[in-house]
Amino acid sequence: MKKLLTATLVLGLCGAFSLPANATPEDDLKKFRTWHEKRFPNTPFHDFINGVYSVDPASRAQWEEIEEFPPYELNIEKGKELFNKPFANGKTYASCFENNGEAIAHRYPFFDAKSGKVITLEAAINACREANGEKPLGWQKGAIADISAYMHYTSRGKIINVEIPDDPRAQAIYEEGKQQFYAKRGQMNMACADCHIYNSGNKIRADILSPALGQVSHFPVYRSKWGGIGTLHRRYGGCNKQVRAKPYKPQGPEYTALEYFHTYMSNGLEMNGPGARK
Ligand code: HEC
Repeated sequence: MKKLLTATLVLGLCGAFSLPANATPEDDLKKFRTWHEKRFPNTPFHDFINGVYSVDPASRAQWEEIEEFPPYELNIEKGKELFNKPFANGKTYASCFENNGEAIAHRYPFFDAKSGKVITLEAAINACREANGEKPLGWQKGAIADISAYMHYTSRGKIINVEIPDDPRAQAIYEEGKQQFYAKRGQMNMACADCHIYNSGNKIRADILSPALGQVSHFPVYRSKWGGIGTLHRRYGGCNKQVRAKPYKPQGPEYTALEYFHTYMSNGLEMNGPGARK
């Protein structure tokens, strides 16, 4: 299995590109998009939000059927209920967010100049709880994924627009995320880019690899493999495990930086979360 995999991947490396360390985020974004446009000339830019289904017509029909009765519907309902349920102090999540938390998920993650940190939506949900005297939720599934699913649902159709301000702290987090994306890891010595850039559209075991462009647009995702819904950082951890690398902590600095880079690369695309996947 491992041998086969390596052979496929080496083949796929012809014509590889990577983003130079000293380039600006704008330069990186241009190259990243052009690569995807050239690799998938039949996929219009706006369709990359559909992950593997944007490049694999064979599985798309099946997925469209699933989307008619979406498995994440209950999660949206549960998320809405939790979102509106008052904390012990009588306040709700709405009090922590702009526009009462409606249709704002596309603004995340963002660089917060006050703390010098990048804030993801899930981090903001737990920060809201703590500010209101509640215990934080687990990061990867369950209530946090439900609340995030609801908040993303109200943001469907909004355009991803992550900013990397001209602040050395923001630039450093961006560079760290970019490095995470291109660094080889694990016993199989593979980077995110090896699968989702250089081999996107190719088959690996039973899966076709989705292109990196648009991968973030539909999270959190209901996966039949999980039997439930999970956050983006849960997926990052799963992908690290696939190459036998130890996953980082969800919402730790590594995955937060990765999410910052990864989401910036999808700027200009619509949010369409939550999604359903195998
Ligand atoms: C050995 C190959 C491999 C590597 C390396 C890998 N992944 Fe994946 N990844 C997969 C497979 C297989 C899937 C499931 C099919 C698909 O949607 O691409 C997947 C799915 C995903 C998805 C979900 C896509 C969707 O539409 O729901 C995301 C996001 C993702 N990977 C991100 C990453 C990131 C970030 C890294 C680096 C930390 C990474 N992957 C490394 C194989 C890989």
